Amino acid sequence: MQRKISVFDTTLRDGEQMPGVNMNIGEKLRIAYNLERLGVDIIEAGFPAASQNDMRAVEKIAENISGSAIAALARADKADIDAAVKALQKAKSGLLHIFIATSDIHLKHKLGKTREQLLDTVREAVSYGRSLYGNVQFSAEDASRSDPDFLIEVFKTAVECGAGSVCIPDTVGYSVPDEFGALVKRVVNALGGVPVSVHCHNDLGLAVANTLAAIENGASRFDCTVNGIGERAGNASLEETVMALKTRGDVFGVRTGIDTSMLSKVSKTVASVTGVYIPPNKAIVGSNAFSHESGIHQHGVLNDPQTYEIIDPRTVGIRSGTIVLGKLSGHHAFEEKLAELDIKQPQSITEAAYKAFKDLACRKSRIDDDDIRALIEEAIIDSHIVDGYELESYQTQSGDRIKAMAMITVSRQGSIYTEAATGEGPIDACFNALNRIVGKDYKLINYGIKAVTGGTDALGEVRVRIADGENEYVGKGVSTDIIKSSIKSYINAINRAMCTEIINGG
Ligand code: KIV
Ligand code: ZN
Repeated sequence: MQRKISVFDTTLRDGEQMPGVNMNIGEKLRIAYNLERLGVDIIEAGFPAASQNDMRAVEKIAENISGSAIAALARADKADIDAAVKALQKAKSGLLHIFIATSDIHLKHKLGKTREQLLDTVREAVSYGRSLYGNVQFSAEDASRSDPDFLIEVFKTAVECGAGSVCIPDTVGYSVPDEFGALVKRVVNALGGVPVSVHCHNDLGLAVANTLAAIENGASRFDCTVNGIGERAGNASLEETVMALKTRGDVFGVRTGIDTSMLSKVSKTVASVTGVYIPPNKAIVGSNAFSHESGIHQHGVLNDPQTYEIIDPRTVGIRSGTIVLGKLSGHHAFEEKLAELDIKQPQSITEAAYKAFKDLACRKSRIDDDDIRALIEEAIIDSHIVDGYELESYQTQSGDRIKAMAMITVSRQGSIYTEAATGEGPIDACFNALNRIVGKDYKLINYGIKAVTGGTDALGEVRVRIADGENEYVGKGVSTDIIKSSIKSYINAINRAMCTEIINGG
């Protein structure tokens, strides 16, 4: 029987620490449901002491998810621990995750503590946490740059005070596989049977390699994020680590509980919600991961896929479709296509997507699977927006001799609003007109456009990130007209900003 490795997903906590990523509670819950279906053992849902929003998100996820355990992060202090324990109250199975840094660099320059003082803090925090909650994990931040003897002393102290597992983070992504594997082996041997987890960052592009080295050396759990998102260069990617363990079972001899056929779908959902695109050459989930361009490769794959494919794309949920949709396709074909793509959504969403599909089919000759996924995403986003603004009509004027001008009409709760504005170009003018309508001065932080599929009639997907003071919001819009998708994405970001304000009581 192969050793089971647990998967601890921190997309909703470390992933959300990625600059510019800001998810509301509905979006976090949606990702949590996806992670549960994927078979993740533990979902780190947030850092409750960090904000009211994080607290509410962890509570909501703990209340609704029962197929995965829910972890909440806390610094080694009472207020943080109280917040995390409160957030986990309704969890069927929860994990209180307490951390503090152990490297001399952090002790001196961040915590201003001696090693003795740090041991006292760990004793106090873990004992306190354990007195309130049955399942505690202790993480030693910057473990890979800590003195290994001291690190082991800290871990032993945490375990004596009630921690049921420990985690070795390579917080700054500094370690290399042989070195990290050796550190893990030392800790595993010193702790005699206490489960050891790892948390690897990707600053040198080695997060997955370090995680695999840790597993080879006795780690029984690993932290990861979908698409590898996270602080700076991100964390070990869930899909890459899981598929390396599966594909090279001959080397690792371990198993996870992940349903790999969901990897592609979950990756797309996280990309869509966070607004962080998946690079085409990204292993496992990039759009090129299973494409073959050169004639020699194509010929080989047609004869036998094993020539150039080490993974059957169906293993990660990528199927080439058999149902081709066009303007004559009706409800039945549309639903068959959704089943083929393993898209299961409430009828209100599929109905909205169907209407958008019919509309698109009149303008676009070939509707691809990615078009359908984009329309479903759009319908899901719209369904989360209660009482938001909706685009009614727009008009723009631009040229190289005139100042660009836009006039936009939107509706909200039965009222109609129209404003006109000028700008550096037609899109800037549209955004200025929308700012006028909502009476805010949102700043555009980021603007990205990509064709969902090929051809001049392709759907153009625009993603914007706008800021209102400290807070940033992403928005997405899809249309065959890029000005329209730009306006829709800006309205979507404004609606998300309004939702967050309502949730926060603003
Ligand atoms: O990178 C890190 O050290 C962390 C800890 C909080 C586990 O994210
Ligand atoms: Zn981290």
